[in-house]
Amino acid sequence: MKVGVFDSGIGGLTVVKSLLEHQLFEEIIYFGDTARVPYGSKDKNTIIRYAIEAVEFFKNFQLDMIIVACNSVSAYALAEMQESAHCPVIGVVEAGVLATQNALEKKDANILILGTNATINSKAYENGLKNLDFQNLQAKATPLFVSLVEEEIFDGAIVEATLQHYFHKLSHPDALILGCTHFPLLATSFQNYFGKETKLIHSGDAIVEYLERTFDFPTKQTHPSLQFFASENPEALRLIAKKWLNV
Ligand code: DGL
Repeated sequence: MKVGVFDSGIGGLTVVKSLLEHQLFEEIIYFGDTARVPYGSKDKNTIIRYAIEAVEFFKNFQLDMIIVACNSVSAYALAEMQESAHCPVIGVVEAGVLATQNALEKKDANILILGTNATINSKAYENGLKNLDFQNLQAKATPLFVSLVEEEIFDGAIVEATLQHYFHKLSHPDALILGCTHFPLLATSFQNYFGKETKLIHSGDAIVEYLERTFDFPTKQTHPSLQFFASENPEALRLIAKKWLNV
C-alpha cells in the first residue's frame, strides 16, 4: 500500500512516526505545506482551498490512500478532499474521537481537547465526543505550542510558562486530546504538568488504531520507502524528518 500523508508543516511527521513503528505501508509520500503553515489561524475556506491543492499534488503519485495528518484540515476540509481525491482520505479527528472512547472507562470522564484555533472553533472533537455520550468536555485553543514545536523547543522554561498560561485555571483532565499533530512532541511536558493519571490521546497512535481496525494489512512492511516534499524549503523538512524519525 502506498499512502500520502499531508500536514500544514512538520507536525504530521509525528503521524509518520506511528505509521513507521507499526510498519503498515510499503511507501509513504509526505507533503508539508511549509510555505503556508500555520493553517490553524486561517479560516475554513482558505483551509479547504489549500487542502484541495494538496489532493492535486498527490494525484502525481498513484496512491492507495491519503492520511490527513493535520487536525485543522481534518476538522474543516475532509469532505472536500474526499470528493476530489481518487482514493480514500482518512482524517485524524474521527480516529482521535474513537481512540478517546477506547481509552476511557466512564462516560463522565473529564476530557480536555487541545488544538489550533481552527480545530477548536470547528467543534469537530466536541461534536464527535458528544455523539458518543461524553459530556464533560473542555476545549482550548493553544496555538503557541505550534510555534514552540516549529522552533524545536519541547521543554524548559518557555514551555513551562506556556503550560501555566493556558492551563492554570483548568481542572486536570482524565484524558487530554492532543488535537494537533505538533503536540505529541511536547507529550513529556504535558504529562509532567498534568500528572501520569491523565491519558494522552495522540493523533498518530489513534490513526494506526483506526487503520488496523478498518483495513487489512496482511504483511508488515519492514523497509518502507519514504519521500518528503514541502511547498517551501524541502531540504529543511527532510533534515527534521531524518532527525525525528531516525531515517
Ligand atoms: N499540525 C496542524 C494540526 O494538526 C497544526 C499546525 C497549524 O496550525 O498549521 O492542526
